Amino acid sequence: MRKKIIAGNWKMNKTVGEAVELARELAAKDFDSGRVQVVICPPFTDLTAVQETLQGSRIELGAQDLYWEKSGAFTGQISADMLVSAGCAYVIIGHSERRQYFSETDETVNLKLVAALQAGLNPIVCVGEMLDERQNDETESVVERQIRGAFAGLTAEQAQKAVIAYEPVWAIGTGQVATPDQAQEVHGFIRALIREIYGDAVADSMRIQYGGSMKANNASELLRQPDVDGGLIGGASLDAESFWAIVKAE
Ligand code: PGA
Repeated sequence: MRKKIIAGNWKMNKTVGEAVELARELAAKDFDSGRVQVVICPPFTDLTAVQETLQGSRIELGAQDLYWEKSGAFTGQISADMLVSAGCAYVIIGHSERRQYFSETDETVNLKLVAALQAGLNPIVCVGEMLDERQNDETESVVERQIRGAFAGLTAEQAQKAVIAYEPVWAIGTGQVATPDQAQEVHGFIRALIREIYGDAVADSMRIQYGGSMKANNASELLRQPDVDGGLIGGASLDAESFWAIVKAE
């Protein structure tokens, strides 16, 4: 059985004060950590304060990006070791917004994935097609290229530490969620691809999250699909009640 993983991607939202307030509300909630894992990914500037706020809670901390070099003259960048020292256990890599607006490529995703694993971080690797790619029937080829690129050169032992987030770009922030069937179809494809590359053990244990307009009112149906092992939540993670309703969804 794969434990579900619900992660909140706060994106570029929340000042330190606002972040602490939200983290405090979440930390007060109870959940069955044997059934579901909960991760929140605030902006870099909020990490330390949120980490302190989460003391004693089973909610885990993640970041939204990292840079692959260990240290040095890379103005504005944040290394994997810095994230670990700030209390992060997870890091999101290759989110479609970073691919669209910040020139992220399959190659840079691969470099970041390697750096995260070397530092002991658990990577959440994002993949997903644009609307025109879906309309042109290219969903599987796009997702396959992104996964093969991200995992290039990685051993099965390394790969098994990763979570994959399938996030169709047309569903992100649009309110247009993928149907459970659409999600399951791609999740099944991703698991089969991981099986082909890494074999049964990695394929059966790897968690594949869905992301893109997941909300309390559609989460249960999505999470009930056999290959949907959790959610990466954007908009609905910015409010404690709406995020928690997804954590509680069965
Ligand atoms: P959304 O974002 O839930 O606001 O659609 C999801 C994501 O980008 O991770």
